[in-house]
Amino acid sequence: MAKAIYYGKQTIDQQDIDAVCEVLHSNLLTQGPYVGRFEQDLASYVNAPHAIACCNGTAGLHLACMALGITQGDEVWVSAVSFVASANCARYCGANVRFVDIDPTSGNLSIEALEKMLAKAEHFPKALIVVHLGGNSCDMASIAKLCQAHRIAIIEDACHALGSTYHNDPVGSCRYSDCCVFSFHPVKTITTAEGGMITCKSQSLAKRLRQFASHGISKDADDWSYPNSAPWYYEQQTLGYNYRLSDLQAALGIAQLRRIDDFLQKRRAIIERYEQAFVGNSLVSMQQITAHSHSAYHLALIQCADSKIRQKIYQALGDEQIFCQLHYIPIYRQPYYRQLNSTEFHQYPGAEAHYQHALSLPVYPTLSIDEQNRIIKLIEHTLHPYLQLSN
Ligand SMILES: Cc1ncc(COP(=O)(O)O)c(C=O)c1O
Repeated sequence: MAKAIYYGKQTIDQQDIDAVCEVLHSNLLTQGPYVGRFEQDLASYVNAPHAIACCNGTAGLHLACMALGITQGDEVWVSAVSFVASANCARYCGANVRFVDIDPTSGNLSIEALEKMLAKAEHFPKALIVVHLGGNSCDMASIAKLCQAHRIAIIEDACHALGSTYHNDPVGSCRYSDCCVFSFHPVKTITTAEGGMITCKSQSLAKRLRQFASHGISKDADDWSYPNSAPWYYEQQTLGYNYRLSDLQAALGIAQLRRIDDFLQKRRAIIERYEQAFVGNSLVSMQQITAHSHSAYHLALIQCADSKIRQKIYQALGDEQIFCQLHYIPIYRQPYYRQLNSTEFHQYPGAEAHYQHALSLPVYPTLSIDEQNRIIKLIEHTLHPYLQLSN
């Protein structure tokens, strides 16, 4: 039987292995020179003034919430369809989470739903967390316009979107947001195994992010409450965490980032082949990309005509060891969030439609044309009887 195919997978070559080995042979496995270099490389890639590395995307989102001052009793609004970490970060700070419906064709936060929620709001949220689903950038200009009017901070959950652009600006430049969070989990555009990065424009925000990521400690004498000339002196000024990235991981990140253009080009070629295969097909269609967004295609998201068709495709591929995934069960459906807010699902027609119809097909740089042809043929074969019925 052919080897199993998953919806996503890392691409590791000898340059990555050599980069990690170099750190292993050095004196410092963590808190050495590689983390700073990776931060600089990523900041320059996304054209952001500041980049702060952290141990994963979840930690990055938590740091963003803490550094923006989100605390007990605040309200944070989150796009309804995402990985649970997009909402959990606000809960870690004690905030109440409310969900904003999505547009099921793009998978991203619906501007109309946000407008309606703002118009009816008794009080405005302290922050809005938007998610660039599958790498498709949200309409950030419209979101920023709505949020600026009410002084709502914007966090971009860009865990899927390293390499994406919006109006030709790289996602991560924070042109329309306070900060932007990336994940380097193995299925993402580049990997450091576990890892994350936060980018921002404000120097003071960057300072707070760094401090929270390393126990709340400041090594900058200008910030100390009790000036001290001892060379070993440092101050813990707030309660922080150990959310640091190691040098081993940063070295891998640097090597991966050097090859990002190749990764993106291969992902885009795979998506084009899916698009060509499904053009004119009434039972499956590809995710609709937002105007002025150029996706990094972390996911190959399709919308099926109904949940039965989706189940058939999932099953037929699964029988051949090809494993798709659903991104995502709407977060408000999770028992943890249901017990917090008595949610009525019909309040989120966009997220419910996505939940019924969406599926992520395999996409990663080393997926071969033969493997993709197999996937496409299996889908066509599965859809064949239903297409005849619908004609
Ligand atoms: C949209 C989104 N946000 C946040 C995260 C959390 O990232 P990490 O796994 O690096 O903690 C993920 C990870 O899969 C994600 O997909």
